[in-house]
Amino acid sequence: MSDSHSIHNKTVELAASAQVLSYTLPVDWRLLPYDIQTNRAHVAGLKRCGALSEADARSITHALDQLTAAYTAGQLTPEGCSDEDVHSYVERRVIADIGDTGKRMHTGKSRNDQVMTDARLYLKDHIQAIGSDIQAVLCALGVLAEQHTRTLFPGFTHFQPAQPIIFAHHIMAYMTMLQRDYERLMQCYDRTDVCPLGSGAIAGTNYAIDREWVAQQLGFSRVSTNSMDAVADRDFMIEFISTSAILMGHLSRFCEELVLWASPMLGFIHIGDAFTTGSSLMPQKKNPDIAELIRGKGSRVLGHTMTLHTLVKALPLTYNRDLQEDKPPLYDTVDTVRQSLSALADMIPTITVQPEAIQAALSVGHLAATELADYLVSKSVPFREAHEITGKIVVSAIKSKKTLQELTLTEYRSFCQNIDQDVYEWLCLERAVNRKSVIGGTAFAFVDAQLSGLKESIQW
Ligand code: ARG
Repeated sequence: MSDSHSIHNKTVELAASAQVLSYTLPVDWRLLPYDIQTNRAHVAGLKRCGALSEADARSITHALDQLTAAYTAGQLTPEGCSDEDVHSYVERRVIADIGDTGKRMHTGKSRNDQVMTDARLYLKDHIQAIGSDIQAVLCALGVLAEQHTRTLFPGFTHFQPAQPIIFAHHIMAYMTMLQRDYERLMQCYDRTDVCPLGSGAIAGTNYAIDREWVAQQLGFSRVSTNSMDAVADRDFMIEFISTSAILMGHLSRFCEELVLWASPMLGFIHIGDAFTTGSSLMPQKKNPDIAELIRGKGSRVLGHTMTLHTLVKALPLTYNRDLQEDKPPLYDTVDTVRQSLSALADMIPTITVQPEAIQAALSVGHLAATELADYLVSKSVPFREAHEITGKIVVSAIKSKKTLQELTLTEYRSFCQNIDQDVYEWLCLERAVNRKSVIGGTAFAFVDAQLSGLKESIQW
């Protein structure tokens, strides 16, 4: 019988193939410090209510301290251990260290409430870390936006040139998304910050443990209020992974734009060499691999949301072993999001905007066409009619290969007598941008206001 089985009430060893399928120690390994923490708080709770003697509690706590020290010193590895999971591992190590007293550690708890306590502690830490990672990307974007509050840029809809905008406005669109992601993440933190310990396997615990005190020792702000829900609930993970999928969706949109902008076909930006690769075959290539990978990694996280949803759907209360499958998608989401945010925060400062290419693009696609329609409205033409006349003018400009600025007044007047010399000034792109003088618009003043609002909350 292996060591791990000596702590369970089984006499027959689990089949080798069943062990391969069900044992998770290497996967769980990252829960080790949290599992030790949970055990320490539980033992303190047992001692406090008289369920464990002072001496036993001290001895177990000392064994847990020793384990922490060995872990911190990098002396522990999961390799070669035959334990079922991290909880079995910690318990076995404590028993190996202090003998029979160690067998009292699991009094009044189950791995069902323990695993959720560990997982919530783990996720709380990592939500905070991801929050800081988001802030780092926001700062990098803020610096970029601040450099380009007067840079005219072609705005697209349907990836067709639509209207002129300010580059900072475009960047701040992403900052606004990331701020929402941050907000969502912190709301998820709040629902993760609930201590299930004391729920036992399903029904609660027989010992008069002060659950609120134990939760406090672990840094939780409150305790779960239904033991069955507490051991069966995976909402907080689904929420975290969904929130992460939305975040990764935003990063993928941004990275997609970086890929397009960096293509020589547009040439709006250069990405630093530390974040691009060459081709082994084509010497002219400078590939935006890192942006592409961040774009691609969004699909992993999206996949994980499916895994978690389908895992929990139709599962009867309370704990079922299926639920063990929650960990790999959770961990991979944490890793993927953290790696992506950190690479992006480092890559953004290497981006240089290329004014000549942008200038050239601004004269393509008649970005001022909507402005011409509004010009006609300003000359008393009803908007629908103005829209139609503008359409005809644009068609004729395309035929004669002229920009709207290049059409002569005579040409304009052949479409509408109301057009005057002042049309040219009206069609100037900077004027067009500055007519979008509303909250959230791309006019200089409102871009500046947006930027200072963001700067106040982010402080780059
Ligand atoms: N390794 C398990 C998990 O992650 C721990 C809980 C096991 N509980 C049980 N009754 N088998 O879900």
